Amino acid sequence: MDLRKRFNNKHVVITGAAQGIGFEIACHFAREGALLSLLDLNTTILDIAAEKIKQLSPKVYTHYTDISVKEQVEQAVSAAEHLQPIDILINNAGIAFETPFLEIEEKEWQKIMDVNLKGMFLVSQSVCRFMAKRMKGVVVNMSSKNGQDGEFGYAHYNASKAGVIMLTKTMALELAHLNIRVNAVAPGYIQTPLSETIDSPEFTANFVESYIPMNRVGKPQEIAPLFLFLAGEESSFITGQVFVADGGQLAGQKPGQNLTGAL
Ligand SMILES: NC(=O)c1ccc[n+]([C@@H]2O[C@H](COP(=O)([O-])OP(=O)(O)OC[C@H]3O[C@@H](n4cnc5c(N)ncnc54)[C@H](O)[C@@H]3O)[C@@H](O)[C@H]2O)c1
Repeated sequence: MDLRKRFNNKHVVITGAAQGIGFEIACHFAREGALLSLLDLNTTILDIAAEKIKQLSPKVYTHYTDISVKEQVEQAVSAAEHLQPIDILINNAGIAFETPFLEIEEKEWQKIMDVNLKGMFLVSQSVCRFMAKRMKGVVVNMSSKNGQDGEFGYAHYNASKAGVIMLTKTMALELAHLNIRVNAVAPGYIQTPLSETIDSPEFTANFVESYIPMNRVGKPQEIAPLFLFLAGEESSFITGQVFVADGGQLAGQKPGQNLTGAL
């Protein structure tokens, strides 16, 4: 046991940890001595991810779980809690795809809501019932810049991520007296397998040029530390808040090329 590590022997449950931002969050907690329970529905990449994370910390357990299915969630959370009481929940798993508003089919709307919002609710309720008995716990939810500011072609995704913000605030209100803090992180455009599947390099370059003041996309390594901050003692008086990391996108309109000369 290395007492200098920030999350020494803390039990952290992370959903969607097999790749992208969730994987990076898991690596960051592993370096800080945490015991990890990783939930993901993609068994192949979860096994590969767990092997990599074990090189940073040996205490890594995997639970093959579709977070939108209540029975699977309850089974995984019970197994994790049985291993060691859960201290921290990171609700990261989410999906996105583009559909023009007038063409969204009911099953597409349902799919996004089932994973991004209902799944987060199911995992949170299951974990927080254990935390409530101990009067101790921390939850950090993954929202998005799109939960505060719409994006063309993503009505279902934007609505789900706005829902995450209200879920976060209401959980924070109801669980504060049980000594459970709940906050959310809202990243802007981050380069991950998800964004690479959706967008071509040309689209990404145009998007950056048009909308991101810092003139680049973000990296998962620039998001993970925010989760550790919100899960740790440094944020002990913070609850019900949303932390944006978006390269300045939400600060306001980026000037078009023909306006920059005026500055
Ligand atoms: N990449 C971005 O630009 C960006 C921006 C803002 C917010 N986010 C959010 O961050 C989170 C992670 O995004 P990412 O870009 O790393 O995505 P990703 O697709 O690279 O990784 C998501 C992980 O979640 C898992 N997952 C998906 N559905 C699941 C389910 N039903 N049950 C369990 N696991 C499931 C996937 O298997 C995958 O391992 C998502 O909630 C996403 O909405 C991403």
